Amino acid sequence: MTTTIARRSALKLSALAASSVVLPTLLLQAAIAQTSRKLTPSQSEGPFYPDQQMQDADADLLKNGRVAYTAGQSAWVSGVVSDMDGKPVSGALVEIWQCDHEGVYRHSRSSGNAPMAFQGFGKVQVGADGRYRFRTIKPVPYTGRPPHIHMKIKLGSRELLTTQMYVAGDASNARDFLTRSLGADRSLLEAAFTRGSDGWQAEFGIVVKT
Ligand SMILES: [Fe+2]
Repeated sequence: MTTTIARRSALKLSALAASSVVLPTLLLQAAIAQTSRKLTPSQSEGPFYPDQQMQDADADLLKNGRVAYTAGQSAWVSGVVSDMDGKPVSGALVEIWQCDHEGVYRHSRSSGNAPMAFQGFGKVQVGADGRYRFRTIKPVPYTGRPPHIHMKIKLGSRELLTTQMYVAGDASNARDFLTRSLGADRSLLEAAFTRGSDGWQAEFGIVVKT
């Protein structure tokens, strides 16, 4: 009898011990999931969203029509567009635009009418997996701004997000007038650029409210 009671007590104690480990772990996992689903902060569009007719606006910004762009440091920029529940946003249109290696945008106020080799703007519609991928250059700094790539996410006729993506670890991010005010959330707009066999690679997840 005593042995049975002792065994039951031991079982209760071990169940309690297990729950004291499992519960905080579950809470931690929930907190991580919550954090990873934070909305990607919006940023201003800036003055250089293309105002010119684009002959070529595909995902390969290093090839503008038949002209290849070989300046700058080539990079793959990719990621998944998801909603706050972590579900890919199938059919979302991802647009990016950025300046060339000399800080010139494909815009009449930046490039004038000079022909540019760099495509400067590209768009891609994501499939069921929400994944986008661009071939472009690692962004460069210009006129006091840290290196960045502008982005816009659309779904049908709705514009879900306009933002800018930054290079993680770039010291000028913390001093920038647009990112300074974000505080800790600045990391949500930063992507690590790592060297791959085919140029730089950066993964940038985008969370939008649909
Ligand atoms: Fe810009």
